[in-house]
Amino acid sequence: MEPVMTVNLSRLIQTMKESAKIGAIPGGGLRRLSLSVEDKAMRDLLREWMIDAGLQVRLDDFGNMYGRREGRNKDASVVMVGSHLDTQPEGGIYDGILGVLSALEVIRVLNENDIETERSIEIVNFTNEEGARFEPPMLGSGGVAGIFSENYVRERKDQEGKLYGEELENIGYAGTPENRAQNIYRFLELHIEQGPILEEQKISVGAVEGVQGMNWLEVIVSGDPGHAGTVPLNHRKDALMSAAKMALAIQHIAKETDEFAKVTIGRMQLKPGSTNCIPHEVVFSIDIRHPNDDIRERVVELVRERISTIALLDGIDIQIKDLWEIKSTLFSEDIVQLVQQGAKEHGYTCRVMMSGAGHDAKYIHHIAPSGMVFVPSVNGKSHCKEELTHWEDVEKGANVLLYVVQNLANKEDSDLYEC
Ligand code: GLV
Ligand code: MN
Ligand code: MN
Repeated sequence: MEPVMTVNLSRLIQTMKESAKIGAIPGGGLRRLSLSVEDKAMRDLLREWMIDAGLQVRLDDFGNMYGRREGRNKDASVVMVGSHLDTQPEGGIYDGILGVLSALEVIRVLNENDIETERSIEIVNFTNEEGARFEPPMLGSGGVAGIFSENYVRERKDQEGKLYGEELENIGYAGTPENRAQNIYRFLELHIEQGPILEEQKISVGAVEGVQGMNWLEVIVSGDPGHAGTVPLNHRKDALMSAAKMALAIQHIAKETDEFAKVTIGRMQLKPGSTNCIPHEVVFSIDIRHPNDDIRERVVELVRERISTIALLDGIDIQIKDLWEIKSTLFSEDIVQLVQQGAKEHGYTCRVMMSGAGHDAKYIHHIAPSGMVFVPSVNGKSHCKEELTHWEDVEKGANVLLYVVQNLANKEDSDLYEC
């Protein structure tokens, strides 16, 4: 039997460390918001690496970057593998990045071993997965999957009012619709877990069976303006005091409804935002998640009812906007099995698990069977500079990815799939 191939860990570490310099923030994390100058610098480097690896590089109209390694059968559907290179405002160096750069490592290993595959392999960097600059998240993969129209994506605005479409052109990464991902046989994404399960259970590899559903809401609370020193407390309509009651109520609802329900208020803005002014407007986001769609929908309904009641009792106005919703996804069973098989071949511990975070694979699964490999996150931390995955775990995840890609790239076009 042929020995199982492995990645070159020191090369992968070196590549990850090069990425960790672009947008580095004090303390070791990254600020590389989508379509920023840092994102452009990272894209330039990826393009160079892809060309050096002999890949045909192309860009689509959402700014997604692809690098293609031709297979023996040029017409066969392709194995696509990748993730995203953008980060949160104070993000880590692994989230998404590991998925793109380990895909590149897979290509490098195949190249240096002169391995041909039946199907072509395409590596991909999707634009704006994080949703940190342009809401909602996963705009590049969602665009390709037909979830979002080109106009919708191009018109997304950041907090300063800058448009996705214009910013994409400004950094020189706007491509064409003909270049969108198509004819995909399977899509694969290696990612850090971003939660504590693998580490707690001392398991090296997660075979991801699906992604939990989520809602993003935006709430605008409007009260009355006034002077901090003159208006008696019982004469005020202080928008922040009402928002604070809402925040506590939301957390209470989640805890009371189900142990797996999660709610987060991740951004909040006050107007006018001055120490001696009563806040007359507060705008805040709510992120609501649960693996079971019925329970998630119930939490959303309870949240709506409760914050509307608080607004009524406080005599202030409230507007609740639906920003985004995705349902739970179950990935392709054959990929879950192949990931488990890859881990077994290498002698790694592995478990099947759901993802708490959203991923590009979720949207790509709408157009092609998709799957994911997880590696442990130290202390379950991510979306922060403390994000860490040990290199020995990175190596295991990348080896499993290599195994699965190689296997799929030589599979026949036989089994049809319905999404
Ligand atoms: C993506 O990072 C998410 O919000 O889960
Ligand atoms: Mn990610
Ligand atoms: Mn993320």
